[in-house]
Parts: sequence; C-alpha cells; structure tokens
Amino acid sequence: MLVHLAAALAVPPHAASVLASAAPEMDDLVWTCKSHDSARTGFSPSFSGPSDFTTGPAWRHPMVGSIEGSTIYAAYSSPVIDHEGNIYAYGTVVPMTKFSPDGAILWNNSDLGYSYTAVSPVLHKRKDGGVSVVGADSTGGHIFAVDAATGKQLYEKTVARPVQQAYFTWMLSGAEGIAVVPSSSNGIYLDTFTGVNMEDGTGLWNYTWAFNGSGYNFMLAIEHVSDGVFAAVVQDPGGGVYAMDLHTGKELWKNLDLWTIGNVSFTTAGCLISDKTVLCASNAPPTRTVKGDHPNVIKTAEHLQNWLDFWSMGGIIHAHSLKDGKMLWRHNSTLPVNAAGAAANGLFYYGAGKNAPGSGAPLGSHAPWPGVMEAINISTGQVVWSTKAHTLIGYISPRATDKIPTNVECEPDSFANPSVGADGTVYFGWHGGMVYALDGRTGTVKSEYPTGTGIQANPAIGDGMVAFLTCNELIVFKTNQTNDE
Ligand SMILES: *[C@@H]1O[C@H](CO)[C@@H](O)[C@H](O)[C@H]1NC(C)=O
Ligand SMILES: *[C@@H]1O[C@H](CO)[C@@H](O)[C@H](O)[C@H]1NC(C)=O
Ligand SMILES: *[C@@H]1O[C@H](CO)[C@@H](O)[C@H](O)[C@H]1NC(C)=O
Ligand SMILES: *[C@@H]1O[C@H](CO)[C@@H](O)[C@H](O)[C@H]1NC(C)=O
Ligand SMILES: *[C@@H]1O[C@H](CO)[C@@H](O)[C@H](O)[C@H]1NC(C)=O
Ligand SMILES: *[C@@H]1O[C@H](CO)[C@@H](O)[C@H](O)[C@H]1NC(C)=O
Ligand SMILES: *[C@@H]1O[C@H](CO)[C@@H](O)[C@H](O)[C@H]1NC(C)=O
Repeated sequence: MLVHLAAALAVPPHAASVLASAAPEMDDLVWTCKSHDSARTGFSPSFSGPSDFTTGPAWRHPMVGSIEGSTIYAAYSSPVIDHEGNIYAYGTVVPMTKFSPDGAILWNNSDLGYSYTAVSPVLHKRKDGGVSVVGADSTGGHIFAVDAATGKQLYEKTVARPVQQAYFTWMLSGAEGIAVVPSSSNGIYLDTFTGVNMEDGTGLWNYTWAFNGSGYNFMLAIEHVSDGVFAAVVQDPGGGVYAMDLHTGKELWKNLDLWTIGNVSFTTAGCLISDKTVLCASNAPPTRTVKGDHPNVIKTAEHLQNWLDFWSMGGIIHAHSLKDGKMLWRHNSTLPVNAAGAAANGLFYYGAGKNAPGSGAPLGSHAPWPGVMEAINISTGQVVWSTKAHTLIGYISPRATDKIPTNVECEPDSFANPSVGADGTVYFGWHGGMVYALDGRTGTVKSEYPTGTGIQANPAIGDGMVAFLTCNELIVFKTNQTNDE
C-alpha cells in the first residue's frame, strides 16, 4: 500500500513500527468504529490517551458547515483511527475528512450527500491489503466505501429499502468482511438489518425483528459465539434483544423479557459484548404521564413540562448470555440511560442522566439536569462507584447560545458512549459541555475540560491521544511528550 507522504511525515516516532508493515492487519487499526471494535467494548487494549487535560488540546478543528446560508452546528458521528494514527471524522454538513495525527487535512470527500454524514463509519481491511472507510446513509438501506489512502469513493449502493425519514439510523457495524446496514421492511419503520459484503457492497441477507415499531439510533454489536458463528446483537427501543447470525442473517435467539414494559419505553442506548456477556442499557417507561408533544426544540411551557414528564423514566442495565440470550442480571438506575456503555477489566461503565432539550428553554430554571457516571461489576451486577457530572445550567449547543431560532442544531443525549484506555482511564463526554478522564477503578476525576458544547460522539483513543468530536469541533488531546518531529 502506498503510504501518503504527508501522513508518513506526521506520524510520531513511536508509531514507526506500525508504519513499517505496509499492509495493515485488522488488529493494527487503532480505533475501527464507534466504541473501538465490532463488539463495541469501547476498550483499547493497546493504547492509552492522556489523563491530564490542563494544558488544553494539542489541536482542534471546527466541524461546522452551512446549508443554504444557515450555519449548522451538528456533528453526531464518531471518529475512527487507522494504523497510522490518522483520524477520519465528519459533521452533518462537513464532508468526511482525513486528519493526520497532528491535525493536517490529508483529504476530504464531498461526493456523498449530507444524509450520509451523521452515521458512524467502520474501517475495513480489504483483501487487496488496502483500508476502506465504510459508511451508511441515515435513512438506511445504503452503503458506501471510500479508500482510506486516497479518499476516492470505491462504491455506493442501495442494498435494501430505506426508511421514510432521515436520522433514524446511527452507525454502521461490521466484522469478518460483513457490514450490517439498517433498513426497513415497509418503508416506514426501521425494523430490518441487511448483511452486506464490505468488499463490493453486495447485499447478503435481511433480518426483520419482532418489535412492532421503529428502531432509532440503535447500536449493533458483533462477536464470535463459537465454531465460527458470529452473533450480531441489537436492542430495540423497548429493551428487546436480538441476535442474528452474521454470515446468514438467521435468528440465533431473541429475549423480550423487558417487553412487558417495553412498548412504552424508549432509549437510544444499546448493547455491547464483553467476555461472552451481552451488556445492554435501556429505559423503563416514564413514571409521569406525558400529555402531549415533547419536541427537542421547546417553544412553550407545556412543551417543557411534557419533556420533563417524558424523561421521568429510570434506566435499566441488563446482562445476557451471548450463547442463548438468557438474562443474567438487571440493575435499575434512577436516571434514564441513552448511550451504550463500555466494558473493561471486569467493569461496565455508563452514564445516566436526563436529556436536556436542544434549545429554546431556559435550562437554568430547571437545573440541575443531573447526570452520573457509574461502574457496575459485570459478574455481579452491583454498582462499584458512582461519580456525579457537573450541573448543566446553560445551553447544550452553540446555535442556542447564538439565540438564532432554528430547528437545525445539535441535540446530543446526556452522555455519549464512554471509552477506556489500556491504562484503565475512562473518558466520558457530557452534554453540559464537559469531557472527563476518570480513574476506571475508583471513579475519581483525573481531569476534565470544558469544550463549550454538547457531544454525541464516542471518544477515539490512539497512541497517546484521545479525540473528542463534539457538536461543532474535533478536539484532540495528547500526552505530554518531547516534540522531536
Ligand atoms: C476540502 O479540502 C479542500 C482541499 O483539498 C479544501 O479546499 C476544502 O476547504 C476542504 N473542505 C472542507 C469543508 O474542509
Ligand atoms: C433485502 O430486502 C430488500 C427489500 O428491502 C430486497 O430488495 C433485497 O433483495 C433483499 N436482500 C436479500 C439479500 O435478500
Ligand atoms: C403494529 O402497530 C401498528 C401501528 O401502531 C398497528 O396498526 C398494528 O396493528 C400493529 N400490529 C401488530 C401485529 O401488533
Ligand atoms: C404493547 O402493550 C399492549 C398492551 O398494553 C400489548 O397488547 C402489545 O402486545 C404490546 N406490544 C409490544 C410490542 O410489546
Ligand atoms: C427493577 O425494577 C423492576 C420493575 O419495577 C422490578 O421488578 C425489579 O425487581 C427491579 N430489580 C432490581 C434488581 O431492583
Ligand atoms: C466483581 O465481583 C466479584 C465477586 O464479588 C469479585 O470477585 C470481583 O473482584 C469483582 N470485580 C471487580 C472488577 O470489582
Ligand atoms: C506539559 O507540557 C506543557 C507545555 O507544553 C507544560 O506547560 C506542562 O507543565 C507539561 N505538563 C506536565 C505534567 O509535564
């Protein structure tokens, strides 16, 4: 594979050994998708990022664009990192961009329409030795691949029926050369998953789940079960969990234990797989009656009341056996959970907090919009530590601060999926505009940094670096090292 000259020059010396092997192995890819790997552990066993943010980011790059003259502050997808430490990131109206480890733009690809750019991509190591950045469309049913070295599009295909509206799908999943693309059996709901060959974008199978309703911003996790069988596991918004065979699309099992309450609950969280255990986060139904509309952009006092009633629900963390889906334990959290967790060193890390509305409401008067970051012992289901996030008193997006009325702005959940470095440091992004580095064993805050805006992306950990893609910026922190480039 041709190594891009600018990339080679920008690679720090400690990455030289990785660079020497021209054709990377899958394991050389540093952060292949949202939450690091196809099982979505969020854990980097090889690399640690910084645990001191006090000197500020090493570099930052705006991820703000405009449509028809209106500035759009909204980046939702999660960055990925290749074998050379290069970062691939995009915003809702910012084209996919490849950054060197030092923040130089190596290429961008604006061939793809805007509806593609909310979906978190997957790095795929091709049979010819090259690396592809594979992504999907937020309406579902589509897949595309871009060559990581050149930024040139390799294919873009429609493989199944899309959903009616955009922004129902959230990320692509892939392993073993097979991606799983969300789609629809009826053109209305997101209820189907389509297996696709990542080499050429050929559709392989469809699987439709049992939930009579739409999926929304779910996360699908893939792991080896046994004897060459890989399970692709996904949770519906009501907490039902499904496992399909990655190679055939046949159902391996489903568990609908939470469905008795499930069809009136809602979550945008999901599952991950660690040590053959499926660890999921979902929500119970609201404890207060929601009387009417609760839009993200709050315009009336009634909207705000409905919003508060809607988010009166508590969260549910539930663990299942990967083999047959049987529930092993559940933990009820007081606050709702809208982002999947991370798992490392026997602990499951997650954030629980009420989502604040996107804009329009004086949030201060409804403070504190509480949030906690917690660790649960994976074998017992017991909470090991609980650390409070900062009080959210301002607005969560830069657009709202501008006081320009708009419906197009960033509306992140309270927490983004956490990440864990090899040294056990846990990184959390919180919609109060703060990113945290915690001690994974104790929950003690090692460092924190006010980014000034909310965050939906999962932080990507590289060699001595951590990359946060907030609503409007890519912010990269590095460990202190002598600058000998
Ligand atoms: C994309 O890259 C080109 C140079 O290759 C640059 O001129 C342009 O500003 C970039 N676009 C964005 C949105 O970064
Ligand atoms: C999957 O379903 C779509 C309809 O949405 C159909 O066009 C396609 O052929 C199916 N793919 C396979 C591999 O069966
Ligand atoms: C599924 O939901 C739709 C709309 O809510 C309803 O009309 C339909 O009867 C439901 N079907 C089943 C099988 O529950
Ligand atoms: C939703 O609840 C109703 C009864 O309240 C039940 O008839 C229906 O089967 C449930 N649907 C799902 C998908 O759980
Ligand atoms: C969690 O809540 C459910 C529903 O209220 C209850 O049945 C269950 O016993 C609770 N579980 C634990 C571990 O507290
Ligand atoms: C989880 O709990 C088990 C049983 O109490 C204990 O042996 C183990 O050390 C705990 N693990 C962690 C990471 O705390
Ligand atoms: C890190 O580097 C900055 C300047 O580059 C310096 O001010 C700071 O003291 C260093 N921190 C540590 C912990 O060495």
